[in-house]
Amino acid sequence: MDLRSFISELDRRNLLTRVKAKVDWKHEIGRMTRENRGALLFDNIKDYPGYSILTGAMCGKEFIAAALGLNGIVKKSRISVALKERFKYPIKPVIVKGDFPLHDNIISGKDINLYNFPVPLWSEIDGGRFIGTWHLNVTKDPQTGSRNVGVYRMQILSNTTASISVSPASHLALHMNKAESLKKPLEMAVCIGVSELAVMCAAAAFPFSVDEYAMAGSLAQKPLELVKCRGVDLEVPADSEIVLEGEIKLSQRVKDGPYLDYAGVASSNPASFLFEVKNIMHRNNPVFRGTAVGAPGLEDHELLSVLAKLGLVDFHGSRMRQKVLNACLKNGNFRLFQMSGRLSKLFHKQ
Ligand SMILES: Cc1cc2nc3c(=O)[nH]c(=O)nc-3n(C[C@H](O)[C@H](O)[C@H](O)COP(=O)(O)O)c2cc1C
Repeated sequence: MDLRSFISELDRRNLLTRVKAKVDWKHEIGRMTRENRGALLFDNIKDYPGYSILTGAMCGKEFIAAALGLNGIVKKSRISVALKERFKYPIKPVIVKGDFPLHDNIISGKDINLYNFPVPLWSEIDGGRFIGTWHLNVTKDPQTGSRNVGVYRMQILSNTTASISVSPASHLALHMNKAESLKKPLEMAVCIGVSELAVMCAAAAFPFSVDEYAMAGSLAQKPLELVKCRGVDLEVPADSEIVLEGEIKLSQRVKDGPYLDYAGVASSNPASFLFEVKNIMHRNNPVFRGTAVGAPGLEDHELLSVLAKLGLVDFHGSRMRQKVLNACLKNGNFRLFQMSGRLSKLFHKQ
């Protein structure tokens, strides 16, 4: 289900609040997302006529059930069973040709300006505007060509650049290690406004070299349709609202943040990667998808809770850290999850 169909489905299930009043991308959208704990569609954004923003759309079991197309009484256990069953049968994506709404606007060179998108300043704590909060980061292994799709936060640094904060053990970091040893910049595509099931699979800790697109196909029970990027050798969902294409610069690290993170504290990563955008494709009047985190029980916690029940959350730390954080998530004890996350940050980088 593409993002627009998902919005209609949420509407049909009375799970969507349309915010008609003019809202400020600076703090207000983030604050409302944190306070509301539900799907909000903003379509009157200060300084950005014609754009809309969707937040909070996976904020609980009813929303996740809607994305999975489950009807009737929704229990968390039913969602776990459905996910487990569907994940057994990965469905390879297919490449489709032709022009899609995504190709309505293709921007390159000096016309690239990330500030043209209504990226919220999600909290008063944040040191900048985070364009990547609920999206896909797509890269390929420079040696084997196998694909990785993850979710790693991204902050706009200039019209054409953004940081990417990755845990050193993440699969994107592994791709980057290989690229740096081969001295070959790593191409990346960032897809904003895609199927929620694709984001779910990108956030899941599948083993290295598992194609998250095929896992998203398993959840959707049909293959994801991909189109080839125009400026990089990568494929992205044909129904994406916005795609940023570019490369991660070799041997360059930048500081991101501060950012109000999942644990409810300001964090900053001094060793973030630097992404340079070379080409942008986007639909007319794109729906920007993002989220605010930092309060207990927001959609990042709800999504991770569902994944933790399937053993698909990896905090890349000691066994103790894994055990405690996963137990909090599984039990839906999000306050304790945040407290444990803060405590474990004293000993770990992420
Ligand atoms: C909303 C959200 C934001 C996330 N942000 C980050 C991040 O900034 N850096 C990171 O390393 N992992 C982040 N994660 C966790 C990764 O998406 C997760 O570890 C995933 O398994 C990464 O893919 P990989 O296993 O292919 O590396 C985030 C997850 C979610 C749901």
